[in-house]
Amino acid sequence: MMKMGLQLKTIRYAGFIGVLLVGVISCHDSIDEPQIPAGDLTDIPYNPVPYMLDVPADFPALEQPNDNPMTVDGILLGRKLFYDPLLSIDSTVSCATCHQPSLSFSDGLALSQGVNGITRRGSLSLINVGFHYSGLFWDGRAKTLEELALIPIEDPIEMGESWDSVELKLRNHDGYPADFRKAFGIENVSMVDRYLAAKAIAQFLRTLVSGQNSRYDRYLRGEILLEENEINGYLMFFNIDPSLPDAQCGHCHNAPLLSTNDYFNNGLQESPDLYSFRDPGLGAITGIAGQNGFFKPPTSRNLVFTAPYMHDGSLKTLEEVVDHYTSGGKNSPNKSSFLFNLVLTESQKSDILAFLLTLTDSTTLTNPAYQSPF
Ligand code: HEC
Ligand code: HEC
Repeated sequence: MMKMGLQLKTIRYAGFIGVLLVGVISCHDSIDEPQIPAGDLTDIPYNPVPYMLDVPADFPALEQPNDNPMTVDGILLGRKLFYDPLLSIDSTVSCATCHQPSLSFSDGLALSQGVNGITRRGSLSLINVGFHYSGLFWDGRAKTLEELALIPIEDPIEMGESWDSVELKLRNHDGYPADFRKAFGIENVSMVDRYLAAKAIAQFLRTLVSGQNSRYDRYLRGEILLEENEINGYLMFFNIDPSLPDAQCGHCHNAPLLSTNDYFNNGLQESPDLYSFRDPGLGAITGIAGQNGFFKPPTSRNLVFTAPYMHDGSLKTLEEVVDHYTSGGKNSPNKSSFLFNLVLTESQKSDILAFLLTLTDSTTLTNPAYQSPF
């Protein structure tokens, strides 16, 4: 007790001197030196270190916008924002709620669950999303990752928040202003804004590369052999061996991304004419009726983690997916000509399934750089 009382007194005394000193200094300041503006961040060093992305040799080059080059600190900030529920109205939902690393950045649901009910379509895996140059989302309605990253926050179902409010939360936060300084060199807290937040998130999303460690990739590099049934599936998927049937998949799910920068109607929706699709997809964005029912083919990589499948989650298993394609799908006037009743034996169907499983790279899911920083 005695000791504490003494300490308290000492602190009070020190505080008194402190007040005196501050008085002297600020008095001096106001005469000779300019006042440091409130929210100044220039004491924090800004030394951007360019980030060199490790892209598999057979991948296309990663294009980055000139005004948003990837840096170590930019990616770190983007990763924090991606995992932070602060970006949603009630702090319950982050980007990662619907894009979980353990599910190849999807969510295991037919339709996603946001702060305010379920979304119109299912979540998409985010691996290799930096290489999608002809539109993002199932219907291509966002052009760039920077543009896309602004959208979920203000989506009334997904995160239900306003950017005005998120900007305030970020500016008043203990850590974020310094993170924005390190990532973008801003000089004042007031410069923390949605556009920089979106840039940081886009940088993080560009790091989500997967395509080196699957058995398929290792087979292509000559490091391992595949089983005979897997090879048969591979040959049919890409129509490599004329003595086997063409399963048509490779037209729309091209190597190496196992996706295409193009949109198709893959027979998922029945429609008697061009105007009766339950979800018109790309056509609603472009206004071109012939593109109603067109969607982006998601990657066929890591499919074991991304069930259920398709924009509406209507196919629960990969068996159902293969059955969908071999049956030729449902009819509509603009269904792709790659979709028709395929003549495949049961064992050929199971060979295709076996091949799809060789596209699994679980090292992507456990990569420490992709996990939550919290
Ligand atoms: C409530 C669930 C939910 C939340 C939260 C969410 N997303 Fe999504 N995300 C989805 C759904 C559903 C889609 C597909 C929507 C569509 O295409 O219409 C999607 C699509 C995407 C895509 C497009 C991928 C591609 O291949 O085109 C990206 C990128 C993405 N989200 C990033 C984010 C980021 C970044 C955040 C946080 C700022 C976020 N998402 C928050 C559910 C969510
Ligand atoms: C005409 C182009 C086309 C062909 C041929 C095609 N696909 Fe697709 N694929 C798509 C499109 C488009 C989607 C998204 C459709 C949607 O959700 O509306 C898709 C979705 C998928 C999905 C769901 C992925 C997910 O994450 O939800 C799988 C799996 C798939 N395709 C596998 C295959 C296989 C296997 C074959 C060959 C047997 C094949 N595809 C042939 C265009 C095609």
